[in-house]
Amino acid sequence: MNEVNTEASSTVTIKIDGIDCKVPAGVNVIEAAKSVGVEIPHYCYHPDLSVPGNCRMCQVEVVGMPKLTIACNTVVKEGMEVRTEKSSPQVKDTQAATLEFILINHPLDCTVCDQAGHCKLQDYHYEYNAKPSRFIEDKVEKVKAFPLGPTVNLDGERCISCTRCVRFCDEITGTSELGLVNRGDKSVITVNQANPLDNPLSGTVVDLCPVGALTHEKWRFNTRIWFTKQTNSICPGCSTGCNVKVAERDGKVVLVKAKYNALVNKEWLCDEGRYGFGRFEPESRIHTPLQQGQVATWPLLQTIWKTLTKVPTAVLFAPDCSIEDYIVAKEACTLLFDNVTFATQYKERPLSKVEKVLVSPDYAPNFRGAQFAGVAGGNIEREYQNTLTGIREEIFGQVLIIGDNALLSQDCDDALLSGLAKAKTIACLANTLSPAYRVAYAVAPVRTVLERSGLFINRNMRLQYFEAVVPFLETAVPIWRWFAEVSNGAIAGNSLSKNSNDRDATLAVLKREPRFESYKISTIKSEGIDVRELF
Ligand code: SF4
Ligand code: SF4
Ligand code: FES
Repeated sequence: MNEVNTEASSTVTIKIDGIDCKVPAGVNVIEAAKSVGVEIPHYCYHPDLSVPGNCRMCQVEVVGMPKLTIACNTVVKEGMEVRTEKSSPQVKDTQAATLEFILINHPLDCTVCDQAGHCKLQDYHYEYNAKPSRFIEDKVEKVKAFPLGPTVNLDGERCISCTRCVRFCDEITGTSELGLVNRGDKSVITVNQANPLDNPLSGTVVDLCPVGALTHEKWRFNTRIWFTKQTNSICPGCSTGCNVKVAERDGKVVLVKAKYNALVNKEWLCDEGRYGFGRFEPESRIHTPLQQGQVATWPLLQTIWKTLTKVPTAVLFAPDCSIEDYIVAKEACTLLFDNVTFATQYKERPLSKVEKVLVSPDYAPNFRGAQFAGVAGGNIEREYQNTLTGIREEIFGQVLIIGDNALLSQDCDDALLSGLAKAKTIACLANTLSPAYRVAYAVAPVRTVLERSGLFINRNMRLQYFEAVVPFLETAVPIWRWFAEVSNGAIAGNSLSKNSNDRDATLAVLKREPRFESYKISTIKSEGIDVRELF
């Protein structure tokens, strides 16, 4: 018997293609089948939107029902017998006919379509029909390359009228910019010109569109998907920690899609996170170690580090460091200095009603990780500001600035810069535009958040694993490695060396940190782990 590993309080037993399956009670046949690894093809159904039942792609046979039924709108019941195309010739024929019907007016311009290679219409056609079209009449012409708003374009001829985009704007953002007008083969998505599609989550409709009808203005025609390397990761834009799939080509981010995670972002992304993903790769990069603005060497940087003494020291972290960075750096600093003040940059901003659907009010993807590792406390914003005040008042003899975002430009007034210049300031940075770059006595070049992997904890206390999505700069090191080296292996990841990679650092921290004892990277990667009880 196929069984689903679910925490659902109750289950029912149904037969799918003659096999007994235990599935969660109360779900529809698509979800029930998915829970035991059986795919029922569908276009209009989405688990987090209403069920219009308009595409007819999900039809199955339910024994005892007089006709085929749509799986998206049929709830499982104890003893139900479901037949998919694998055991029902009628379902097989219906799926092929549905696809032929959907494709009648489709332009079949896959050769120039951005969705080619990741299109549900292509996939299902090969899987469930794979016959040439018999349609010889003229196809209905509709709008092409029509801007629905600043971010999204519509190709009306490719649209299959599934209404996912319309329902997202009605039911999730509540902005209702889109509608489906006309009937039959004249049906087309349209936008109210006085109310264009420009809500803060607008790009999500492109992910939801199962075909190539909606495209991102920013990324149209930029690359074929098969020339890219795609990586599942976590958006570092804020502490919501949205799950993403990032396509990279020639070291650049060329497309960002949502990756479904029912417990974090469902399949939504905000535009600021999606279209701004490349901003974490600095155009003006620090390539080598620096001493007082001059090119230095790693051994020289080590020598400078050894001149640090046990005077009061402030350690300011960026909120996008990994937990590995926080733990290793904290342990090294506690070991090497007597009087250390840790703080992590944090600032909140007001959010609009639509942003509140998804976005967190910060730019701090791992502020919870900083709290977990003990480099930030409960009043994180106040601690950060107090530490800046201490720097301005020159109470610290040494300041370590860890990460580009450890200091916000708006906080860098003359008094702060003067305090940093008077203290011995050593910074781990990637970007010459980081405010600390101008005043640091020495700079270690480190990898950006897009070039590294590691652990984040999101605002709702979900431990997640983010992956490097672009190749790293050879001369830049991970932050944890810099601290592992300067403390001569006397810290958490004492097995870490020059040859260790980010994965080794994660494994070292999982092994060393008692609160993570039972966790594996693979488990964390799948849906994340709720770590509320670990705080
Ligand atoms: S544009 Fe895409 S998501 Fe919207 S109705 Fe057409 S096919 Fe569906
Ligand atoms: S809500 Fe936050 S984590 Fe999600 S896409 Fe936007 S910036 Fe990224
Ligand atoms: S998915 Fe069931 S009718 Fe569209």
